[in-house]
Amino acid sequence: MEKAVLRKLTSLCIICGVAVLVLSGFAAFRDGEREWMPHQAHYKEQLLKKLSPVKNPILYQRVLRTQPEIKQIVVDEWGAVDRCTTCHLGIEDPLFAGAAQPFKTHPYPELLKKHPVEKYGCTICHGGQGLATTYRGAAHKGIEHWPVPMVAKGMMQSRCGVCHKDFLAIGADRLVQGREIFKQMHCAGCHRIEKVGGDVGPELSAFADKDPGNFAYANVEGSHSKQAWVMQHFKDPQKVTPGTPMRPYPMTDEQIECLASYVLSLSQKEMPRQYTPKEQPSAPSPQAHAWTAAAQAAPLTLAGELSASAADQPERSSK
Ligand code: HEC
Ligand code: HEC
Ligand code: HEC
Ligand code: HEC
Repeated sequence: MEKAVLRKLTSLCIICGVAVLVLSGFAAFRDGEREWMPHQAHYKEQLLKKLSPVKNPILYQRVLRTQPEIKQIVVDEWGAVDRCTTCHLGIEDPLFAGAAQPFKTHPYPELLKKHPVEKYGCTICHGGQGLATTYRGAAHKGIEHWPVPMVAKGMMQSRCGVCHKDFLAIGADRLVQGREIFKQMHCAGCHRIEKVGGDVGPELSAFADKDPGNFAYANVEGSHSKQAWVMQHFKDPQKVTPGTPMRPYPMTDEQIECLASYVLSLSQKEMPRQYTPKEQPSAPSPQAHAWTAAAQAAPLTLAGELSASAADQPERSSK
């Protein structure tokens, strides 16, 4: 009897020992993933150089005493835990306007003032994996098993449509342009949006809300994201969906980006009240909210200009 207990205890000890070994090995492995730590050390160094220990000794001392830590913004309303600011430390600090990434000030501080970081986080606009603390894990380049890779630079406005329905009021020039292309290319002949359009193709009113897992990626190159699917489908529908009645349209890459941003912005999701913009009685001109460099530099490209540039393009033949 005693011997049996002893034997059991011995094997328990061995099991525990192995478990400890495995766990400590895992911890060492995880340490290798703490690539955010050198970023924070580097940031602290740069920040201290910008501060004066004489003029502002209290702040200087406080920065000097900061310890490395994971920073996160939790947004209960849509279940986001965004740790992007663990590395993007200067995002709201004008002192870092000239800094290199990941410390550079946000290119549109006005936009962040309207959508305060502590209330919105980052992924609602940028996509990506908020919880991650590595460059790769945050899905800057798109990774497997994460459905929403970071939104490509030219498609950022696709995310505005989740909350904003009045594209003109917010100066979303690319969505306005995409909507115009949709009209001119007669996409509505086959697709319904908000009760208008045909039934040959799927309804697009809630295209943004469609699960990325529902698309066929066999013929899609690069990351298997909805964004990549749409871009490649618009370039060459036959290649992505063999046998589809959709044909390639004569569009520049930029026009494809605008059109893709537009369909990807179509959402029927109800956002919580405090995140739903108040309806404006009349749409101000896009220049009233010229938060993009493009909107400041040039007015929108609308109907006439588009058909002229589309006509310049030779029709692509489908194989
Ligand atoms: C581990 C640190 C780290 C985390 C966490 C991180 N980033 Fe980055 N990010 C970087 C670095 C480094 C760069 C610059 C890369 C370069 O210059 O090639 C960068 C660049 C970017 C860029 C510029 C475009 C690009 O891809 O180069 C955007 C946008 C961006 N990050 C957004 C985010 C968002 C949104 C999150 C959270 C989901 C996030 N980042 C989380 C380190 C990080
Ligand atoms: C309201 C939407 C919104 C929110 C919230 C937001 N951004 Fe952005 N961000 C944008 C837009 C729009 C751009 C401009 C993209 C472009 O150049 O067209 C941008 C650009 C950037 C860039 C520069 C990309 C480049 O290629 O140079 C970085 C880095 C970035 N954001 C990081 C962040 C981080 C980190 C957060 C969270 C703290 C955040 N953003 C929150 C909308 C947003
Ligand atoms: C999660 C919802 C949400 C997202 C996503 C979002 N916004 Fe907003 N936005 C709001 C709310 C709410 C307001 C405040 C409106 C108000 O005060 O009535 C606002 C305000 C604004 C304003 C100021 C409007 C005014 O009348 O002063 C602009 C411009 C704007 N957003 C542009 C954008 C752009 C561009 C994007 C995409 C890059 C975007 N927003 C993404 C919710 C959102
Ligand atoms: C002749 C009819 C037809 C025309 C015209 C047409 N489509 Fe389609 N579209 C389809 C069909 C059928 C599908 C489903 C098969 C596929 O994946 O191609 C589809 C698929 C799509 C999808 C994916 C929808 C989903 O939920 O999977 C999008 C987005 C789309 N089309 C956008 C457009 C746009 C934008 C235009 C105008 C440039 C357009 N279509 C013109 C027939 C058409």
